[in-house]
Parts: sequence; C-alpha cells; structure tokens
Amino acid sequence: HLQEDEITPDQYGDFISSLPTTGFLSQYRGFWFPTMFMQGVLSLQKHFQAHDTDILMMTPPKVGTTWLKAILFAILNRKHHLELQKHPLLTNNPHVLVPYLDLHLYNKKEVPDLTSCPSPRLFSAHLPYTLLPTSAKNSKCKIVYLYRNPKDTFVSLWHFLEKIGMTTDLFEETFDKFCQGVKKPQRILCLRYEELKEQPTTHLKRIADFLGCPFSSEEETKGTINDISRLCSFDYLSKLEVNKSGTTHNMKNESLFRRGEVGDWVNYLTPQMLEKLDNIFKEKFHGTELKF
Ligand code: A3P
Repeated sequence: HLQEDEITPDQYGDFISSLPTTGFLSQYRGFWFPTMFMQGVLSLQKHFQAHDTDILMMTPPKVGTTWLKAILFAILNRKHHLELQKHPLLTNNPHVLVPYLDLHLYNKKEVPDLTSCPSPRLFSAHLPYTLLPTSAKNSKCKIVYLYRNPKDTFVSLWHFLEKIGMTTDLFEETFDKFCQGVKKPQRILCLRYEELKEQPTTHLKRIADFLGCPFSSEEETKGTINDISRLCSFDYLSKLEVNKSGTTHNMKNESLFRRGEVGDWVNYLTPQMLEKLDNIFKEKFHGTELKF
C-alpha cells in the first residue's frame, strides 16, 4: 500500500491505479477527478511553490473558466495591450494565455520550472480549496473563485463531455453522477457566473480592485472597462477564428463555447431532476451566503 506523502513521481501511476474509479473518473481525497489529470493534481500539490504575488483562479469545470481567464488576463495586462486590434486574445484561446496548473503544467513527468514567469503569475486550477497546495495556502497569493448555478453547470458539462467524446453515459446517468460529486466552494473573491453576465462592468471593477490594479478614472472615462468586457464576451470570443477552428492541448476550442447563457437548464432538466438537485443544494449550502 503506497503512502501518498512518500511516493515519488515514478510511483504516481501505481498510486493512481489504487484509487477508486468510475468511468473516466478517480476519487482522491473525497473528490472526483478525470483519471488522465490525476498526475497533475498530485504533482502540483507536491511541487508547486506559490509566490505572494501569484493570482490563482479556482473554478469547478463548466462554470465559465474560459471567460474568467480572458477577463483576468485582459485586466492584468491591459497596460501592455492598449491596442485592442492586436490583443493576444484575438489570436489565442484564453487557456493558452492562462494555463491550468493541474490539467497542463504539472500533468507531465517533468516538474515545470515556473520561477522565471513574470509576476504577477496568473494560473488556474480545477481544484477545491482543500486541495490547494500548502505553499499556496500559506502564501499571500490571491485567489479568485467562480461558481455558477449548478443546473446550468450540469447542462454545460453534459454537452461538453458528449462533444469531446469523454462519456457514453445517458443524460440521466451523468446527472446522477453529478449529484454524487457536488462540492462546497470556499470564499475568497467569490464570483458568480450569473452576476458576471448581468453586470459585467460592475464585476470587472470589483475584480480589478481585488487584483490590486483598479481602473483609474481616466480609464473609466476612456471606456477601458467596457472594451475589456466586450473583448471577453461570449459573442466576441466565440466568433474569433482561433476559437472556431483552433485547438488547445488536443481539444477543439469551439467545444468551450456553447451558448453562454443563464437558465438554459429549463430546456434539459426534468422536474424530478430539478427537485433532486435543489434538495442537494439546499442541504449542502444551508447557512452559507452563496446564492443559486
Ligand atoms: P454553456 O455550455 O452553458 O454555453 P468553462 O469555460 O468553465 O469550461 O465553462 C464553459 C461554459 O462557459 C459554457 O457554457 C460556455 O458557453 C460558457 N462561456 C464560454 N465563454 C464565455 C464567455 N466569454 N462569456 C460567457 N460564457 C462563456
């Protein structure tokens, strides 16, 4: 039996095979992860050294990660990209500009050397707060958390898994697994997809304040906030050639852009599914400030 603290990178494979699995998922410390990314999850926890200036995006899958990556990148780097016609978001998918620690950077044999990345380093991870590496918990790095109404998150997830060929389960089977895996997010800067959709500029200001680079009154007058909001919008990003025909890490970029709306779940969930999910959320989030 392998003790997790003592395993070396060449034993990750054996350790991962010892975890409980269902379909393409493995259960690790109470959470389900795609088995193909488990090495990244383990290696990241062991090796990632957070800097106080780091900004980490923590999101469950399908809550609008791509959108938030575009927003944070555009806000943090706005001084370098004053000419929007030449903005890196026009030719790069947001996942290229803001890499995943768990899914990409650490999901390989060699431990990546991230020390020379210019600060503030901006990374993302599909990890719950409890699995954040200790160095990140102990540092002063900033964490931005995004969540979304679980009904839309589920519908988005189901379409995505189908599109990238990761599941052959029926809608109902996937729904049951989703219900089993629901988890509680922690609050740091907590953003909600629905609120970002409703009032993007208000929340862009909130994000910039939180990141320590507030918009100046000159930028406000010049319309910088609106420009960033438009640049990162679903309509704009999803129509760019790079996102219609490009790929990132073997995945078609177009699979990241489906409808980008609030409330599409009404077209998919049955009243029974609705009741089941509502009950779970009432129970799990009772007493928290989170709204759905
Ligand atoms: P839908 O499937 O409901 O359309 P993630 O980026 O975490 O994988 O989440 C994907 C969801 O975010 C998809 O939701 C996708 O369409 C939506 N999305 C992608 N880009 C967006 C943007 N710029 N604005 C709003 N929603 C966006």
